[in-house]
Amino acid sequence: MTEKNIDIRFKEYSSLDELEASDRELADAAIDAMKGSYAPYSHFNVGAAVRLSNGEIVQGANQENAAFPSGLCAERTAMFAAGARYPDKAMTSIALAGGVMGRLAKSPATPCGACRQVMAQYQLKGGRPMSVIMIGDGKIWKFDSVDDILPLIFDSI
Ligand code: THU
Repeated sequence: MTEKNIDIRFKEYSSLDELEASDRELADAAIDAMKGSYAPYSHFNVGAAVRLSNGEIVQGANQENAAFPSGLCAERTAMFAAGARYPDKAMTSIALAGGVMGRLAKSPATPCGACRQVMAQYQLKGGRPMSVIMIGDGKIWKFDSVDDILPLIFDSI
């Protein structure tokens, strides 16, 4: 038996101003996308923004439904829109922000497992790492690859 270790590195920023310009733009787009949230049940507004290899940004927000599973998270709303609109472009980064009443929560918004799996698939499709930026009020985390938030990605079929 050999004991193994998975080392996950990420960057923490204390202000959006510390981000490099293109990440800052994407983070602002994710925060702006919170306006499109439709969350009559959870009242938790999430916005996401995907950066494509051509520089375009595609936004999404969580969309809830009375039949709960019919709703969709902000990240998948953004990624599916980006995938449908720009099928030939890699997704190079995704940012997400969440909070109640349109106000950013203190802790960074972290993607659910299903969204991580979808990120993994589009990262594989794009053939290059997709960075993930999680935004909170005064705390921002940046992971350089989806592998860092979904170790041992399922991609066997
Ligand atoms: N939500 C997202 O939009 N993204 C996530 O990664 C986690 C959760 C949404 C789904 C639901 O509309 C609300 O947040 C509360 O769970």
